Amino acid sequence: MRIFVTGGCGFIGSNFVRFLLREGKDVEVTNFDALTYAGNLENLAGVEEHPRYRFLKGSITDREAVDAALRTGFDIVYNFAAESHVDRSLYEPHVFLDTNVRGTAVLLEAALKAKVKRFVQISTDEVYGSLGSDGLFTETTPLKPSSPYSAAKAAADLWVLAYHHTFGADVVVTRSSNNYGPFQFPEKLVPLFISNAVDGNALPVYGDGRQVRDWLFVEDNCRAIELAGLRGRAGEVYNIGGRAERENLAVTKAILRAVGKPETLIQYVKDRPGHDRRYALDIAKIEGELGWKPAVAFEDGLKRTVEWYLGHREWWSRVKSGAYREYYAKHYGAAL
Ligand code: NAD
Ligand code: TYD
Repeated sequence: MRIFVTGGCGFIGSNFVRFLLREGKDVEVTNFDALTYAGNLENLAGVEEHPRYRFLKGSITDREAVDAALRTGFDIVYNFAAESHVDRSLYEPHVFLDTNVRGTAVLLEAALKAKVKRFVQISTDEVYGSLGSDGLFTETTPLKPSSPYSAAKAAADLWVLAYHHTFGADVVVTRSSNNYGPFQFPEKLVPLFISNAVDGNALPVYGDGRQVRDWLFVEDNCRAIELAGLRGRAGEVYNIGGRAERENLAVTKAILRAVGKPETLIQYVKDRPGHDRRYALDIAKIEGELGWKPAVAFEDGLKRTVEWYLGHREWWSRVKSGAYREYYAKHYGAAL
């Protein structure tokens, strides 16, 4: 099976590439990535020389590059490539429109032209908007995205699904909750707070910290995405969640306990504009149709994640010392 992964140098994509090469003996993987700030070749250290792996640098917005890359023929395209950070989408919304919407459209068109058998669009629960204190998002919940990030992801989902409806394209959309695990860029809550705690720096909690996210260990998501690609029904959306709803403050305290640092490191900062209060997913569809369920409990996954970050200080120190710092100063400013 010939697999084309975009965004394979990012967090979930690199975990997915490793997962495919580890689990599938007959799988050849091409990783097509533009290497933006979030793309890090070090995420694939040890994989570069794998005989069934190939890296191509390029952007999904570049029609010629995408056409050329897909020319050799592929069975499935998994589109992970995206601008993925809500906070950054507040500063540079147009980059999100260009990559997440136009890039997906260019890639899908090229995949159809190249006769790729299936296109899997990796999406997010954030397209559904925000929940009150109860209820769950199902795959038929109307889309009501709040941020430029989630609006761009929702637009891409609709575009891809329209190609199924109108042209019969074989597409599948996966919508997962908040992933965490190894190789996550330390701008997202879990790796930012682990690395700050290790260094004895403040943990900036937005607003009252009572926002709720559902947490999914990245390996569980990789398994679900692969299954959706292999056995999902064309034109369908699959929610992928961890059944692990937690308030941000609870996650923050669990991280501090795991790293062995005091709660005095918690610092409440100005809330994120348009901050969604709660996400939670109904995952009955993927459980019933594909027999998937999350295997890693949040407490175990967090323990494994903290251990990974403690053992890979060099990896995240290098990430944090680059352009990341400029972003950090711009976003958190004098608050920290
Ligand atoms: P990430 O930011 O860690 O990685 C994104 C990758 O895409 C990087 O390697 C980057 O270089 C690459 N990329 C960006 N623009 C590109 C372009 N124009 N062409 C080619 N490559 C490009 O993101 P992530 O957290 O790994 O998320 C991957 C996907 O999963 C995204 O589509 C995101 O919306 C979705 N998702 C993420 C989460 C999460 O919790 N991280 C949850 C649900 C869905
Ligand atoms: P994040 O990891 O950015 O993911 P998303 O916004 O896609 O859910 O944030 C997770 C939650 O943590 C979200 O409610 C925002 C909050 N948060 C903070 O309180 N402080 C921070 O510094 C960050 C990055 C996030």
